[in-house]
Amino acid sequence: MSLDQILAVIPPGSPDEALARQLNFDQLPSHVAIIMDGNGRWAARRHLPRVEGHRAGIDAVRDVVETSARLGIKVLTLYAFSVENWKRPKAEVNTLMLLLKRYIRAELSTLDRNNIRFRAIGRIDELAPDVQADLALGVERTAANTGMLFNIALNYGGRSEIVDAVRRAMASGVAPADLDEPIFSTFLYTGGQPDPDLLIRTSGEMRVSNFLLWQIAYAEIWVTETLWPDFRRRDLLEAVLAYQKRDRRYGGIKASPVALSAK
Ligand code: IPE
Ligand code: IPE
Ligand code: MG
Repeated sequence: MSLDQILAVIPPGSPDEALARQLNFDQLPSHVAIIMDGNGRWAARRHLPRVEGHRAGIDAVRDVVETSARLGIKVLTLYAFSVENWKRPKAEVNTLMLLLKRYIRAELSTLDRNNIRFRAIGRIDELAPDVQADLALGVERTAANTGMLFNIALNYGGRSEIVDAVRRAMASGVAPADLDEPIFSTFLYTGGQPDPDLLIRTSGEMRVSNFLLWQIAYAEIWVTETLWPDFRRRDLLEAVLAYQKRDRRYGGIKASPVALSAK
């Protein structure tokens, strides 16, 4: 998981190579979260049904998972289906679920071979039993892997996650006076994982659409006009490079070397 790992799959002399060489591998985001948006618009531009955009989006998922793992990103979270997405036509929802099942079946051995740990976050118990079964298969088969953690957010809502976390905290018997932010975050679906450092949204929308509301408190946000089915390694490298130029202050002031040495 390094420059060599990523260069191994990049054609020499390509623009991607130049981007990869600019990266600082000591300053990678630990957790990258992506709102995969724009599938419908991608299809509409081609006069195709919306579901063709979802189908095409699978190639982007494959590319981003591989690139993230090769870079050495510790956690990748992809927003695949929100609690609000049930409002869509039934046929579209069914196709999304079918594509998800197919993705897991087709990619599971590749994920496993690459030491990737697969997880699903969201109200998974509300999904159809066949979808739950395939998810469980993916989770079990990769549970012992120690490489990148790949969360897929399904029937996910940031507000429902917080409600679920409150319920779990109450059921755990933790005394209200003992509850603080670090303890509360252990009850989230992402308990134990680092918060996203970088939040990417494709297709140009400037909103978070109920994604990881608690966890993105200090995430750097990067929005691209690229529609999700067109998103590739190059876009991810550009996002990470932009992230590495940000000045993260967490409400404080920029720590200069002088200030640090004066301590
Ligand atoms: C993202 O693409 C996929 C899901 C939300 C499941 P959209 O289907 O939202 O595409 P647009 O935003 O309509 O273009
Ligand atoms: C967000 O995209 C949800 C996912 C990417 C799964 P939407 O397309 O559903 O979001 P809105 O409706 O534009 O806010
Ligand atoms: Mg959308």
